[in-house]
Amino acid sequence: MKKAWWKESVVYQIYPRSYQDSNGDGIGDLQGIISRLPYLKWLGVDVIWLSPIYKSPNDDNGYDISDYQDIMTEFGTMEDFDKLLEEAHNQGLKIMLDLVVNHSSDEHKWFIESRKSIDNPYRDYYIWREGKDGKEPNNWGGSFGGSAWQYDEATNMYYLHTFSKKQPDLNWDNQVLRNEVFSMMTWWLDKGVDGFRMDVINMISKDTTFPDGNSEGRLYGDFTPYVMNGPHVHEYLQEMNEKVLSKYDVITVGEAPAVSVEDAKKYAGFDTKELNMVFQFEHMCVDEGDYGKWTKHPLDLVKLKQIFTKWQAGLDGIGWNSLYWNNHDQPRIVSRWGNDKNYHEKSAKMLGTCLHMLQGTPYIYQGEEIGMTNVDFTSIEQYRDIECLNQYDDFVTKIGMDKTEAFERIKKSSRDNARTPMQWNASSNAGFTIGNPWIEVNPNYVDINVEKQMEDKNSILYYYKNLISFRKANEIVVYGSYEPLLENDSNIFAYKRTLEDKQLYVLCNFTDKEVEIPFIGYEEDRSQLVIHNDTTWEKGKLQPYEARVYIVK
Ligand code: GLC
Ligand code: CA
Repeated sequence: MKKAWWKESVVYQIYPRSYQDSNGDGIGDLQGIISRLPYLKWLGVDVIWLSPIYKSPNDDNGYDISDYQDIMTEFGTMEDFDKLLEEAHNQGLKIMLDLVVNHSSDEHKWFIESRKSIDNPYRDYYIWREGKDGKEPNNWGGSFGGSAWQYDEATNMYYLHTFSKKQPDLNWDNQVLRNEVFSMMTWWLDKGVDGFRMDVINMISKDTTFPDGNSEGRLYGDFTPYVMNGPHVHEYLQEMNEKVLSKYDVITVGEAPAVSVEDAKKYAGFDTKELNMVFQFEHMCVDEGDYGKWTKHPLDLVKLKQIFTKWQAGLDGIGWNSLYWNNHDQPRIVSRWGNDKNYHEKSAKMLGTCLHMLQGTPYIYQGEEIGMTNVDFTSIEQYRDIECLNQYDDFVTKIGMDKTEAFERIKKSSRDNARTPMQWNASSNAGFTIGNPWIEVNPNYVDINVEKQMEDKNSILYYYKNLISFRKANEIVVYGSYEPLLENDSNIFAYKRTLEDKQLYVLCNFTDKEVEIPFIGYEEDRSQLVIHNDTTWEKGKLQPYEARVYIVK
């Protein structure tokens, strides 16, 4: 397989609002991130992905951008950004920006112009349609509740917003808009940024006949088939690659909900000249139910393994996987598929092992490296995220769900679980701020924090540091092929990687019980054990949440 630095890298995601506040206003900022670069260097990651840092009215915490070439007031200035980039580069760290171009903010100057009149030069930067019988152009629901269309009085028409009404969708069918985006990207790349994570990039090309979506059992119609992986998306990404990306040596990952392996072969194929990799969602959706992400069934491990195997085998030699358990949109993995009560440390380490030994580029979300957990809020007032607040409202007012049940659903799946401040130490507000944090700190910071784990070589933090350096020292982790083992076992996630005459075996117990290991074609040999999250070792048996990695030559 062809070698590439972005295949060998580990990416660390920062949600700047919640990482480190430097001036006491309770909001994380760029100077705060600068002060933590030595920590990231120590941890050993290669690339930092910053969630959006651009000018924004923060309807969706920066995923609604009002100026793509300026910095969010609360986060600092362009000088701060330049300093961050320079300092990061000095320390050998790369910076990847979040490119949010499926939509902008309604406060972006393009949109302010666009809504003025139908012949405004910016009109066609967005998606405007006439209403139908005095109603919205079709039945689509927005991702954050309500219709996906917003009526605008000035011209008596509707604009499309697949997210909140303050996030109007950009019209990628307009060449002038595409050129604007490409030149903005070029501007950042010329500044020296090392790549982009592209927000919902597989949604940029819509079916412009705008058919109604399936609304069975839902408040609104589902736009998925007409928006995700739309008619011209590959054309536009190839154009972006040709005009921009191909001129730089950068890392790119496209967030792509509802993407199949077949789609991914096009987006992230080695020869397709689009992106390096995509964030697929299949494994994240495995425990969804009737209310989508707001129902979480217990994990079906066999299904989860099937999904990973499909992606691992499907892309092997053809394209590249991203590997993630967590990000700013997902509840914390140790609370979700680990055990944050009785086996916090063990299960966090097991989950890290299971993911990092797969083929692909691993992404660590801030706090995952210390096993940060979901937050135990007791009132809806403590939540900040527009998605969960709107959803709670829909549950209670539109669906008539019992408030306690609605709250339980929010609590389990809210994105705010991932957005409570980074837990640095045991001082007040976890060392995140000396002020009033914009969202409450998880009270378990007194036990779970960076400082404490730095003092303990057996901590989750040290374990992650080791997973990262292990990858650097063993090519098989990056380039080895993948083969599933024990596919029908409902307790153990096991697989084998092979590179030339070497094999790497991974065994992970996903349960809180001791389990027998069925024969995997390898006679366990303790002297070949290279990663282990337990102090005791018994041949043929795994303790609760135990993880083992062997290298065999
Ligand atoms: C992506 C982001 C999410 C954001 C949405 C709209 O899914 O990860 O945080 O709300 O796009 O930009
Ligand atoms: Ca601040």
